[in-house]
Amino acid sequence: MAGAGHGLEFCLAQAADFEEVMSISTNIYGGLDYLPARYHAWLLEATRRVFLAKREGRVVALVSVSVVDDGRTAVLEGLRVAPAERGRGIAGLVQRHALGVMKSHYPSLKVRRSSRSGPLGPEVMAKYRIICHQGVLVLHFLAEELRPNLAVAIDQLKGVSGGWEDPVRLEIEEVKRVFLDPRVVEEVLPGRTITWDWSPYQPSQSNLEKLVTKGISWMADSKEDPNVLSLSAAPYEVPAGVGHLRLNIDIFGRDFPRVRGQFLAQLRGGLEPLQGPVHCLVYMDPSLWSEMHAFCTGCLGMRNEQLIDGQKLLEAEI
Ligand SMILES: CC(C)(COP(=O)(O)OP(=O)(O)OC[C@H]1O[C@@H](n2cnc3c(N)ncnc32)[C@H](O)[C@@H]1OP(=O)(O)O)[C@@H](O)C(=O)NCCC(=O)NCCS
Repeated sequence: MAGAGHGLEFCLAQAADFEEVMSISTNIYGGLDYLPARYHAWLLEATRRVFLAKREGRVVALVSVSVVDDGRTAVLEGLRVAPAERGRGIAGLVQRHALGVMKSHYPSLKVRRSSRSGPLGPEVMAKYRIICHQGVLVLHFLAEELRPNLAVAIDQLKGVSGGWEDPVRLEIEEVKRVFLDPRVVEEVLPGRTITWDWSPYQPSQSNLEKLVTKGISWMADSKEDPNVLSLSAAPYEVPAGVGHLRLNIDIFGRDFPRVRGQFLAQLRGGLEPLQGPVHCLVYMDPSLWSEMHAFCTGCLGMRNEQLIDGQKLLEAEI
């Protein structure tokens, strides 16, 4: 199908397009782009399509759409336009094409969801409702330097009244029970959504079936009456430099000492096998950002460079 007025052809991405997709992706998210690590796996997912816009055979734009929430929601991810082509509406064209194709294959689709960072202008607010907003802290460190600081910080917190309670790891069956509990959905999950490294899932049996296959470490402050929950998975390489790893920790809940405790526990588990530069993205309630920032830069000696300004999940009817 052609993109009117721009000489664009739309097609599905292939493994062989990888290098060209990377060539339009330079410096996205300050070198912390997840797409290089995800691209080939995305092509194999049964309920996901990756669309390209090309002109004269050259890649100009990419967007991926995955179908979640029992076929109700199309999640748009990975959106990018070649630097020289930005500012001409191509992002809108490729998204409209992709959603049109997906809707024809999945007539059950009702809404589209996508996450954005930065301030949202009135034109965005006129089209979308905000489902939730998480603060994002971007932390940089060397794994081998942080490991001893982590152990010291945890020991110090254990010595302070109310400073530390051991977070608990959830097994797969416990994950489903906890994340489908109506109180947890209502009171703990922001916008009744489980967000894992920017991908939003409504808490449903089918979504959790998918998520538990992804090698995620699931934690809670309690198995019986949880108020803070967190997710983290193995880190992946990013374009920031050779051997640079990105580690994501999504945390839900507002009790700062428990949020901090799960952050430390997830970090301790995630760092265990690592060496070298790590970029850790921590997602949490925006009200906790300043306290978390002070703790990470002050007590843990991490470097913060704020490459990403918040995570806002947007939704609109298709
Ligand atoms: C953000 C980016 C994709 C915008 O592309 P663009 O073609 O220059 O955007 P334009 O402003 O010309 O296009 C406007 C259309 O794109 C949409 N758009 C612009 N920025 C968007 C964004 N961040 N997310 C989703 N849609 C966006 C607008 O809603 C508009 O759609 P409409 O035509 O349906 O009204 C482009 O600047 C880019 O590749 N940036 C680097 C990667 C990146 O930051 N991606 C964003 C992921 S959230």
